Amino acid sequence: MRSPKDFFAPLAVGAPTPLREIPARPSRAIHFFDPSNAKMAAKIPNMVGQVDVLLGNLEDAVKAENKEAARNGLVEIAKSTDFGETQLWSRLNALDSPWFLDDVTTLVTNIGDKLDVVMIPKVQGAEDIHYVDRILAQLEAKAGLERPILVHAILETARGMANVEEIAGASPRMQGISLGPADLAADRRMKTTRVGGGHPGYLVRADAAKTDDGYDIHGEQTPRATHQQDLWHYTIARMVDACAMHGIFPYYGPYGDITDVVGCEDQFRNAFLLGCVGTWTLHPKQIEIARRVFSPDPAEVEHAYEVVTAMGDGTGAVMVDGKMEDDASCKQCQVVVDLAEALSKIDPELGEQYATAKQAGIAKAGGTS
Ligand code: GLV
Ligand code: MG
Repeated sequence: MRSPKDFFAPLAVGAPTPLREIPARPSRAIHFFDPSNAKMAAKIPNMVGQVDVLLGNLEDAVKAENKEAARNGLVEIAKSTDFGETQLWSRLNALDSPWFLDDVTTLVTNIGDKLDVVMIPKVQGAEDIHYVDRILAQLEAKAGLERPILVHAILETARGMANVEEIAGASPRMQGISLGPADLAADRRMKTTRVGGGHPGYLVRADAAKTDDGYDIHGEQTPRATHQQDLWHYTIARMVDACAMHGIFPYYGPYGDITDVVGCEDQFRNAFLLGCVGTWTLHPKQIEIARRVFSPDPAEVEHAYEVVTAMGDGTGAVMVDGKMEDDASCKQCQVVVDLAEALSKIDPELGEQYATAKQAGIAKAGGTS
């Protein structure tokens, strides 16, 4: 057993001290690119500022013969790009692959000063995070890094799901967790054949029409409304709780049907409302959707400022637009206010809309901004 006192001690001599709190940096869209694809790589410098996170993908979707090119390509891109406020992440190959060790060694020793987060696929339990934690510390010490590289786990195995709480709390490096619906579906032996999103067969159906003495014999002919259900509700909700209890951040993962922008938006919004802070984007089309969905609506921001202002010290109860607001709804509104303020700092257009919303909300509550 490790003493709690040692939890925040560096795991290698000369490695940076672990963070006590994971910074809430906006990360609405984590945009995946393949650094071995020259056409895609050439676009990266122009995407700085367009997405909150640029992620060089080394794992699935990169062919085995391109693994080395992807790794080296990412080093080149990172060295030659000024990322400004945009974060640089990388999804490394899985711990049971022949590529992980070279991935982590090459990236940390060459571009560790530019790399904010490494995403680890197919995490099974806390032991996987402990392994990554130690090796990162050794490499950080070797590279002379001054700030720790954070770790993000992908939730994509049944065992990982069963251990999600201990994964979230396995290291002070843990920054967040993403849903990996494609691998998770395969590992659970679900009968879907797609990357994320719903399935038309997973539904509930209204009861059959009834007569006074029982079920209508013609019930089979009577149309009965059906509603598609969310395959990922349980998984996302549990991931959100695990992250919240450990002060780290939950994310939706990939939505593979690039043409279905409506389905994608719905899936992203469900995740946002349940507590996720962002999602992966696999195509430029999905970036606009993610930025919009994971930024609170200005009308919600206005309402949030109104409630927070009207509630003063946050205790008691007030009526706003005919609804009772109290300590608990005030705390929900504070979450929205905090997010709006964080986004205003990196997104000037949104910042203007939120400034107007803030003024209006405070004025409605009879306060002054
Ligand atoms: C992502 O990696 C997934 O498997 O869904
Ligand atoms: Mg996967």
